[in-house]
Amino acid sequence: MPTVDNPTEKTLSAIGINDPIAVAELFARERLRYDQQLAAKVPDEANYTLMKNAWLGRKSGVLTLITENWLKPAPPALKPIVGQSLNELKRHIESSLESLRVAGEKSFEGVAAAREKIDLSLPGVIRSIGTHHLIRQVFQEIEDIFFSIGFSVVEGPEIETPYYNFEALNIPEHHPVRDDMDTFYMELPKGAPGPLLLRTHTSPVQIHTMEKRQPPVRVIVPGKVYRRDNPDATHSFMFHQIEGLAVDADITFCDFTGTIDYFVKQFFGEGVKTRFRPSYFPFTEPSVEFDASCVFCGGSGTAKTGGTCGKCKGSGWIELFGAGMVDPAVYGFVNYDPKKVSGFAFGIGIDRLAMLKYGIDDIQVFFQNDVRFLKQFP
Ligand code: PHE
Repeated sequence: MPTVDNPTEKTLSAIGINDPIAVAELFARERLRYDQQLAAKVPDEANYTLMKNAWLGRKSGVLTLITENWLKPAPPALKPIVGQSLNELKRHIESSLESLRVAGEKSFEGVAAAREKIDLSLPGVIRSIGTHHLIRQVFQEIEDIFFSIGFSVVEGPEIETPYYNFEALNIPEHHPVRDDMDTFYMELPKGAPGPLLLRTHTSPVQIHTMEKRQPPVRVIVPGKVYRRDNPDATHSFMFHQIEGLAVDADITFCDFTGTIDYFVKQFFGEGVKTRFRPSYFPFTEPSVEFDASCVFCGGSGTAKTGGTCGKCKGSGWIELFGAGMVDPAVYGFVNYDPKKVSGFAFGIGIDRLAMLKYGIDDIQVFFQNDVRFLKQFP
């Protein structure tokens, strides 16, 4: 950059140069000034532009000033040497600036290449693979227990006719238990055969199975069921059940309670006791409700921290699920001979069992799919 005492802003005579040796010295100083500036610059595009403008810039570059102030007004005796020296300086600046530009490009490429280089030794990005939802895990636990005693899995439709969901299970149209199973009816196109509803329990698959198979029958039926319940900590409009059905020539009430007791001990642990209480379902007779000794207080009714156990409310027992011996009236709907066969059925609420086993106190967390919850059950 021209400064106040920059000699290139003045003519040669103004700075007292009047012989060829002094001219050569003057140009040597300018060349040195240029070389020093260049040496102080890191080679990159910005510095190249900066130097180019300062020295070769058409309006106020150093070489333009030299042309205007030294060459043009030079006395005829000095003109050749000034012109020759100017050309030499110009060639020197042009060629050294070109190498600055090339060096800048090289180092830029070097940086980019280093950035883009693939490092095969780096570990890959591991995509986490999902796990089974806790409900699915509990289904599998329960299925494995029943597999081990000769049951097999069957499935059935979630959309049912009232015949399978109710009538064939000995629940006629105006029977009051239908009120407990209020559910969703499908909106069907005009003229379609109907009505159709979302099944309220997995029990209709008992009928489908017995229609298709002759005894002995030993099946479990996992699946989703629907009821018009308002959501709260223990209710959801959709939940999960496993139905069980065993029918054979001489199945007794002892086979029934023995099977349930085996299942409960396998699922909750050997130390858990079971009991049953009389209950009512139209499709079982007698009907029972199975309880397990409270898994939280060990059946004592007293919490480990003292005081009444909040889970069983001090009773020492927790209600598990409904079950019973298949009502002979049901065999009439599937053409089994009630004099020749007998059996039992049960309907386990999976969500409830999972909550008891894993200490979950709100059924809604199963359906919210919050990964912080899901990740606790890998
Ligand atoms: N289906 C009944 C319910 O959902 C449970 C049940 C199944 C009871 C089988 C007895 C036998 O409440």
